[in-house]
Amino acid sequence: MKKKNRKILYEGKAKILYKGQEPNTIVQYFKDHATAFNNKKFAIIKGKGALNNNISAFLMEKLISIDIPTHFIKKINSREQLVYQVEIIPIEFVVRNTAAGSICKRLNLKEGELLPRTLIEYYYKCDELNDPMISEEHITAFNWANLSELKIIYNMSIQINNFLIKLFSNVGIKVIDFKLEFGRLTKNNKHTLVLADELSPDNFRLWDSKTNKKLDKDVFREDLGNITDAYYEVAQKLGIIK
Ligand code: TMP
Ligand code: ASP
Repeated sequence: MKKKNRKILYEGKAKILYKGQEPNTIVQYFKDHATAFNNKKFAIIKGKGALNNNISAFLMEKLISIDIPTHFIKKINSREQLVYQVEIIPIEFVVRNTAAGSICKRLNLKEGELLPRTLIEYYYKCDELNDPMISEEHITAFNWANLSELKIIYNMSIQINNFLIKLFSNVGIKVIDFKLEFGRLTKNNKHTLVLADELSPDNFRLWDSKTNKKLDKDVFREDLGNITDAYYEVAQKLGIIK
């Protein structure tokens, strides 16, 4: 199908979702747009989309190899990947190993402080409300997900965290925190929960293990330098780019 004839299903801050050719599939197109603080800061950064597409495809494939169910099917080209259409659960699941970002302000913690244990936090996906933090109570009361789904997601998130900590530590990177999204995939009338969205330095905090240099979107949020250089370094360390 010609690109211009494709149907846009949704356009977000960093991606466009097109209807795929096969039923129940979606093409995820990674834009070069960078936003932070809910769109208050904005820039177009040449090359970011392709880097995120590559890093995300690589990490999804690694997780599939350890039997984590995901929406990922295959990379199509430098900027696009094919994924299954899922019903997205409207929650951002934030996994934290080390204090950084919003938890430092909320609980008066020092950036870089190791947390007593891995924390999983819930945020309601709603730009107008600035993605407020919520609890299990809100999620079940408003029927965004049920308790058994939350239990599965919690266990999957811990498994993903343990795997990614090792994978990144092998290439000299510390996983500080990251955000996951999950969706319900329906196949042959059976529903399964799968990891969805993307796994890229837009949604992770990644620090160089030796120097603590930031290699993620904080480079853009905090004006620390060139964001594509940082993402390129992540891709290079992972062996995605030679
Ligand atoms: P936070 O410290 O700002 O709450 O962010 C925690 C992690 O979640 C960090 O790795 C960045 C990621 N994140 C997103 O992917 N999307 C968002 O909208 C926000 C606020 C954070
Ligand atoms: N993803 C959010 C935004 O684009 C917040 C952030 O990443 O800082 O505005």
